[in-house]
Amino acid sequence: MLHVPASHGMTLPLPHLYERVARHVPPMEWEIISGDIQAILDLKRRRNAILLAHNYQSPEIFHTVADIVGDSLALAREAAATDADVILLAGVHFMAETAKVLNPDKVVLIPDEKAGCSLAESIRPEDVLALKAKYPGVPVVTYVNTSAAVKAVSDVCCTSGNAKKVVEALGVPRVIMIPDEYLARNIAAQTDVEIISWHGRCEVHERFTPMDIAEIRDIYPDVTVIAHPECPPDVVAASDFSGSTAEMVGFVADKRPARVALVTECSMGDNVAVHYPEIDFVKPCNLCPHMKRITLSNIRRALETMGPEVTVDPALLPGARLSVERMLAIR
Ligand code: 13P
Ligand code: SF4
Repeated sequence: MLHVPASHGMTLPLPHLYERVARHVPPMEWEIISGDIQAILDLKRRRNAILLAHNYQSPEIFHTVADIVGDSLALAREAAATDADVILLAGVHFMAETAKVLNPDKVVLIPDEKAGCSLAESIRPEDVLALKAKYPGVPVVTYVNTSAAVKAVSDVCCTSGNAKKVVEALGVPRVIMIPDEYLARNIAAQTDVEIISWHGRCEVHERFTPMDIAEIRDIYPDVTVIAHPECPPDVVAASDFSGSTAEMVGFVADKRPARVALVTECSMGDNVAVHYPEIDFVKPCNLCPHMKRITLSNIRRALETMGPEVTVDPALLPGARLSVERMLAIR
């Protein structure tokens, strides 16, 4: 292990990795967590494992042990393409399930099985079947933030990064879009396709209000406001741009605003800020308690014990896989 001098005269381990998170992790904390980081790096090599991390993971996971980082769409694409033997999802359960659906013969690990999602919890397969019976022939576009069982009875999946494209690719005048009511309404505002929605909400994004945006603009009149499309439509309308977490990163990279407010989960701003020290990040953030269940110590434990392993009922695999693959085929 390489060491560099720390501010208190001691040496710091893994200096090349510490540089990436120095803004967020004090040297004393680094000395504690670097043991887990080194162990994870060694275990990944030994297990031929790939670690996929969502943009909402904490900087000490995102910038040190992750092989691939991105939004749900990017993580699904990477899961479909990997030749690793083991996939560890530093994200929430539906993301790991999607990876398993695409790789039924690989080992897929999630460090904490309780890392759920309020959207995935909001709808069951029987609800989808009832919607289909109520609107015969209307295709069901299902956000990836759902269980494999729900995907299995859907026609095609979408993410916040491709929802409009998927809805329009179907070439029909009307679709059912589940389960996020706000995402459905935000997409409906951008397309002529009629959208029938469900009443699911993201517990993190539903809490933002137009008043939050007004307050930020009052304090920072020059701020550029970017909101995730799981936010209420009046929040999106009050923002300058809306897009998936990867589209938010792309916007910051392209436009380089002097000051930006990311209206989304807290770690997003921290992770992007590492690459743009010249940009002032205003963070009106809410924490996703599910994403925050993933830690360096449970990632290490998952790779040591090869569990908890994500499984999907084989009966659900063909239907769920078709929905995800149809989405991935839409470019
Ligand atoms: P993205 O697909 O934009 O990364 O969003 C996933 C998610 O869970 C946001 O809350
Ligand atoms: Fe689910 Fe919202 Fe957390 Fe994303 S931020 S995982 S949508 S609860």
